[in-house]
Amino acid sequence: MCGIVGVITAEGGVGEVLSKALKRLEYRGYDSVGVATVNENRIYIKKDKGKIDEVNERLDLTDVPGLIGIGHTRWATHGIPSKINSHPHCDCENRIAVVHNGIIENYSGLKERLTRNGHKFVSETDTEVVPHLIEEKLNNGLNTFTAILETVKELKGSYAIAVLIADYPDRIYVARNESPLVIGVKDKSYVFCASDIPAFLPITNQVIFLYDGEVAELSLNGVAIRNLNGEIINREILEMDLTPEMAKKGGFPHFMLKEIFEQPKALKNTLRIDEGRLIEVCKILNECDRIIFTSAGTSFYAGLCGKYFLANLSRTRSEAVISSEFDEVMKNIIDERTTVVAISQSGETSDTISAAKYAKRLGAKIISISNTVGSSLTRLADATIYTQAGPEIGVAATKTFLVQLGALSLISCKLAEFKAVINRDEYKKLLNDLNSLPEIIQLILDKTEREVKASTEAYHNSISFLYLGRGINSAVAMEGALKLKEIAYIHAEGYAAGESKHGPIALINQGFPVVFVAPIDSTHNKIIGNIMEMKARGARIISVIEEEDKEIQLISDTVFRIPKATDNFFKQIVYIVPLQLFAYYMAVRKGLDPDKPRNLAKAVTVA
Ligand code: M6R
Repeated sequence: MCGIVGVITAEGGVGEVLSKALKRLEYRGYDSVGVATVNENRIYIKKDKGKIDEVNERLDLTDVPGLIGIGHTRWATHGIPSKINSHPHCDCENRIAVVHNGIIENYSGLKERLTRNGHKFVSETDTEVVPHLIEEKLNNGLNTFTAILETVKELKGSYAIAVLIADYPDRIYVARNESPLVIGVKDKSYVFCASDIPAFLPITNQVIFLYDGEVAELSLNGVAIRNLNGEIINREILEMDLTPEMAKKGGFPHFMLKEIFEQPKALKNTLRIDEGRLIEVCKILNECDRIIFTSAGTSFYAGLCGKYFLANLSRTRSEAVISSEFDEVMKNIIDERTTVVAISQSGETSDTISAAKYAKRLGAKIISISNTVGSSLTRLADATIYTQAGPEIGVAATKTFLVQLGALSLISCKLAEFKAVINRDEYKKLLNDLNSLPEIIQLILDKTEREVKASTEAYHNSISFLYLGRGINSAVAMEGALKLKEIAYIHAEGYAAGESKHGPIALINQGFPVVFVAPIDSTHNKIIGNIMEMKARGARIISVIEEEDKEIQLISDTVFRIPKATDNFFKQIVYIVPLQLFAYYMAVRKGLDPDKPRNLAKAVTVA
């Protein structure tokens, strides 16, 4: 997730407008920043690695000539954060500048073709193919709009792009598919494009939405939108009633809720992980004797799920060890036949980095799974899988947990195929299962939010909760309990349901809330037994169930319903979503700020 912006103004001060707009988009990424303007038919670029304030201090982004410009603040996906990988990116002659948010899936094929035809690339980014494609079309004699249209038709994946062309200093071209892009207009004095409304909200609240599969030419004379068939689209201007703060959160009251709702998109993007990258990781996993997941907090629960996926899909034994315990538990175990899979959203968690370094010293191979390109963990790893959740601002991990499960599922499927545990058709069926999850999550968000919110009425005075599940569902239960604990400050314990009768059941008295993660899977019959045990002792039962599961519905006080997905191998993954919402609404009900829980930091960089 990056932030892009473009502006055409009659008022001057284009550098200042771009800098301020980028600052307001910084929540979308801050690995590097850059701007490009056109003046006297020449493109001027300033860009560098770092946050906007740091780069501004070094380069003064406000000092750029012209009345038109584009800008970018980057969340790295392809290529480390560096000056060369910073946007804007240009064609061979520096006549076309492009900023992009999204992932161009087919960039390597396009890059190969363009390189063969003499185009020179300088960065590792997927974006750079775009200016070169436009250059190719313009050299073939197409007019600018058609060149942009034909370029966009060649792109697969997600993109919002803004394009400046030196020969046309009065216009910006934009296009979008599965990445956000809005246009802002103010009389004949300003036209903007941006990833998000706050970029231009202090100047105008007059907005035109661009939809997927549309291209537009922006100038002070107006906005011309067309679809990919070249047909003209008429779109009205809307007046947005938003404060800048609300707009930054996409209209949601908190980042946490916004991020919960971003999960379909985040997962979809993560499931696009390059197959070559998966194969590289699976080779390492296949060649070692011992696989150990290590991570902290939410990422540890993802590791537990990873263990289930590896065992069930690829018949591969592994273990999950909390990073802060790693050296104590593993000191006589690690050797060069070991692979450690270190999972960290931030890639900067001190405990996880220490565990990985320790294992590396003893000769182990390190695979990292991280949401942060170029982070410390990824730098010491032998291979990395990047999740694609975009920046997560809320301290509570939500979308980053889900995408970790997505990445682990993909790795497990690939390893199963690699080891010939499944054939190509079975692999494809599993991929279909995974690819259907974003839609299921969307349905949960659309249908379940209201019932989850309403349920807090009955539970907000409870001071302790037990969360139970069996198999992989116990890891989901633990993550659900962690969410409630960290943002609603309510004691909650996640446990393997079968183990609850060996101790935790002593806590149960009249009205004690017990949450069950209870899909219709191989654990179903036994979980009903566990529910009955708790019920018999007066517990109030909250169950996350498949929508047609009448059996558990009848014995529960509260149910959160998940759409039926009978044959879907990965259906358990989505059961975390209502539990995230439950924690969120419990916190809100208690008047707490879910985005900034006390005593916690987004990345724990102390041991
Ligand atoms: O960045 P990491 O994934 O390494 O972070 C690990 C934990 O600190 C993190 O998951 C923490 O538990 C979150 N607050 C959970 O919501």
